[in-house]
Amino acid sequence: MEKEDLPLFVGWINDPKVFGEYNPLHQTSRTETEKQYEKGNPEEQEFIIEKKDGSKIGYICHFTLMHPAGKHLEIGYFLVPSERGKGYGTEALGIMVDYLFLSKEVMRIQAQTDVRNAVSQKVIEKVGFKREGTLRKDFFMRGQWIDAYIYSILREEWKEPKILTKTS
Ligand SMILES: CC(C)(COP(=O)(O)OP(=O)(O)OC[C@H]1O[C@@H](n2cnc3c(N)ncnc32)[C@H](O)[C@@H]1OP(=O)(O)O)[C@@H](O)C(=O)NCCC(=O)NCCS
Repeated sequence: MEKEDLPLFVGWINDPKVFGEYNPLHQTSRTETEKQYEKGNPEEQEFIIEKKDGSKIGYICHFTLMHPAGKHLEIGYFLVPSERGKGYGTEALGIMVDYLFLSKEVMRIQAQTDVRNAVSQKVIEKVGFKREGTLRKDFFMRGQWIDAYIYSILREEWKEPKILTKTS
């Protein structure tokens, strides 16, 4: 994600229709988002999902969790509503998994979904993640405590890139 993408990104995350019904309502200003962007964090990266024609249709990121001794990364993503259901989410997640295993010393990549988010679960499973369990009352969203499924894919399950090509 480049600085020029920030106005688009801020519009997306402030719009519950884009952020999705299974993500918490979120409000942030352009100034705050620019501040976070400038600060950066080498352990976290944010990407805009683009189609081949250059149109920008969504967002995917990875971030670190937990103890530094654990080589864990977690992924989050969303697409604009008009581009859902066309395979782009599965492709973007597959590229991200390839990219992380190819370029980082990561042992395990994880993802969490609201237990009601059947589409995201399908996408995660298609990319090869395994469901490990249920995080009970994991987060408070829109007036209720939500259970979440936790998924992971391990380096030995991934084995080799499915979409990206290894160049060195
Ligand atoms: C989650 C999201 C990124 C998925 O991307 P997408 O491009 O829409 O997903 P895809 O088209 O690649 O795949 C969707 C799959 O779910 C399936 N699906 C659709 N509706 C479904 C339902 N109600 N129950 C189960 N599966 C469903 C589709 O059939 C498809 O599987 P298939 O290719 O085997 O047929 C997108 O829907 C989104 O942005 N949702 C809102 C934000 C969000 O929930 N983010 C994830 C938070 S964990």
